[in-house]
Amino acid sequence: MSIAALSPTSFPGSISGLLQVASLLGLLLLLLKAVQLYLHRQWLLKALQQFPCPPSHWFFGHKHEFQIDQELEKLVKWAKEFPSACPRWLWGTKVVIVLYDPDYMKVILGRSDPKAHSTYRLLSPWIGYGLLLLNGQTWFQHRRTLTPAFHYDILKPYVAVMVNSVRVMLDKWEQLISQDSPLEIFQSVSLMTLDSIMKCAFSHQSGTQFDKNSHSYIQAIGDLNSLTFTRVRNIFHQNDTIYSLSSNGRLFKQACKLAHEHTDQVIKQRKSQLQDENELEKIKRKRHLDFLDILLFARMADGKSLSNKDLRAEVDTFMFEGHDTTASGISWTLYALAAHPEHQQKCREEVQSLLGDGSSITWEQLDQMPYTTMCIKEALRLYPPVPNVSRDLSKPVTFPDGRSLPKGITVSLSIYTLHHNPKVWPNPEVYDPSRFAPDATRHSHAFLPFSGGSRNCIGKQFAMNELKVAVALTLLRFELLPDPMRIPQPVARLVLKSKNGIYLRLRKLK
Ligand code: HEM
Ligand SMILES: *[C@@H]1O[C@H](CO)[C@@H](O)[C@H](O)[C@H]1NC(C)=O
Ligand SMILES: *[C@@H]1O[C@H](CO)[C@@H](O)[C@H](O)[C@H]1NC(C)=O
Repeated sequence: MSIAALSPTSFPGSISGLLQVASLLGLLLLLLKAVQLYLHRQWLLKALQQFPCPPSHWFFGHKHEFQIDQELEKLVKWAKEFPSACPRWLWGTKVVIVLYDPDYMKVILGRSDPKAHSTYRLLSPWIGYGLLLLNGQTWFQHRRTLTPAFHYDILKPYVAVMVNSVRVMLDKWEQLISQDSPLEIFQSVSLMTLDSIMKCAFSHQSGTQFDKNSHSYIQAIGDLNSLTFTRVRNIFHQNDTIYSLSSNGRLFKQACKLAHEHTDQVIKQRKSQLQDENELEKIKRKRHLDFLDILLFARMADGKSLSNKDLRAEVDTFMFEGHDTTASGISWTLYALAAHPEHQQKCREEVQSLLGDGSSITWEQLDQMPYTTMCIKEALRLYPPVPNVSRDLSKPVTFPDGRSLPKGITVSLSIYTLHHNPKVWPNPEVYDPSRFAPDATRHSHAFLPFSGGSRNCIGKQFAMNELKVAVALTLLRFELLPDPMRIPQPVARLVLKSKNGIYLRLRKLK
C-alpha cells in the first residue's frame, strides 16, 4: 500500500465512496426485506383463501375494526358472520386465525402444537419457562413431576385453608359495608386467592390479605396483564431492545421486579427452613408434600434437581396462574348471582340446608351442592377467566369441514367467543344455569374454561374447590345486589377483567 493512498487529500473521497456503497447496500437490504415481506404476505393470503374475513389494511391489518377494549364483542360479531374461524390481521404479515367452533377446538386440542411463540414469549421475563410456557419434552417432564401436587389427598386439606382465607375476606367486607356504599370486590377477592395459593401451594403463613407487599404484588400483576396485552398489538414493540427503551417497557421491567421480589421471598424463606434439620424431618414426616416441597425435592430425568432458574419459573407461574384466574372466576360468579336474585336464592337455600350456619365446609360437601355448581359453570361460560389461548401449528391441519391451514400458522382458540357463539349456545347472553343440568347434553368441546387435551389446566380441581367454598360462604353471609350505576364491562387481558371493576352492594343476612 502506498503512502499516497492515506494522504489527507484522498481521505474525504474514500469516505464518501464508502458511505455511498454502504447506503446502497442498506437500500438493497431494505428492498430485499420488503420483497420478502411482500412474498410472505402473498403466501399467507393464498393459504387463508378458504377463510374469509372483513377487509383489512395491508399495513394496519384489522386495527380499524377493533376499538380499545371492544375486542370481545367484536369477535362475537365476527363469529355470527364467519362460521367456525376467521383470520385476524394484526399488521402487515402478522395474522392469527381465531377459532370459535367446538369441532375446530377439538382438532387443535387433540394435537400437540407448541404455545404460540410470539405471544407467550412476551410472558417469559415475568413467569419464565415454567409449566405454562414450556413445550415438548421438558414440558412433559415438568408436568409429570408436578401432577402429584394436585392429587386429591393433597387437595383435601386445602379446603380448610380456603375456608379461612374466605372468612377473612368476608369479615373485612362486613366492616366495610357499614358505610352502605357499593363495594369493589375484584381487588379483595384477588388478595384472598393470593392468600389461599400462598398457604396451600407454598405453606407460606402470613397475613397476606392485610400485608402491603401483597397489595403491591397484586398491583404489579394487574399492570403486567395490561402491558402484555398492549404489547401483543403493537408492531413497534415486538423487538425486545426497542421495547425496553419505551415507557411501557420500563413499566414492564419495574412490575416484573416487584413480582419477582415477592416470589423470591417465598423461595428464600422455605430454603432457609429446609436448612434446619428438624424442619426437614418434619416435612418428610408430613404424609404429603406441598407444591413447593415437590419442586425442591424433584429430580429430573437426568437425576439433577431443578435449577434455581427453573424453580423460580414454576413458582412465578403458579403464583400468577393460581390466583389471578380464580379471582376472576369468583368475582364474575358473584356478580352473575347478584344480577340474578332468583338463582342466588336457590343457591343460598341449597347451601343453607347443606351447611347450616356455615361454620365449616368439608371436602365431601363440595360435591353436594349441584345447583351452586351449575351456577358457577354458567358464570364460567359467560365470563371465562382465560379468554383465549394460542398455538403455532407444527404441521398442517385439516378441519372436519374440509378447510385446512398450513404449518406455521398461529391459531387463537377464543374460549370467550366459543362460549358466546349462538350456534353453540342458543341465546348466549342469557345467564341460564339449567344449561348445566345433569341431563343436559352438549358437544364435548363447547365448554372449555380450563382448555382441554394434554395441556389443559393442571389446577382445575383446585380452582373449582375454591370457587365453591368462596361462593357458598359468601351466600351464607350476604345478600348480593348489583350496582345499577356500574355494570361491569368484561375486557380481555391475559385474564378476563372488568374495565370498571366489579361493584356489588352487600347486605348482611340476619
Ligand atoms: C378458574 C380458574 C382457572 C382457569 C379458568 C384456568 C384456565 C386455564 C387454561 C385455559 C389453561 C390453558 C392455557 C394455555 O393453553 O395456554 C390453563 C393452564 C394452566 N393452569 Fe389454569 N386455570 C385456573 C386456575 C388455575 C390454578 C388455581 C392453578 C394452579 C394452582 C392453575 C395452573 C395452571 C397451569 C400451571 C397451567 C399450564 C398447564 C400446562 O400447560 O401443562 N390454573 N389454565
Ligand atoms: C432489535 O433491534 C436491535 C436494534 O435495532 C437489533 O440489534 C436486534 O437484533 C433486534 N432484536 C431482535 C430480536 O430482532
Ligand atoms: C388472544 O388472541 C389475540 C388475537 O385475537 C392474540 O393476539 C393474543 O396473542 C391471544 N392471547 C393468547 C394468550 O393467546
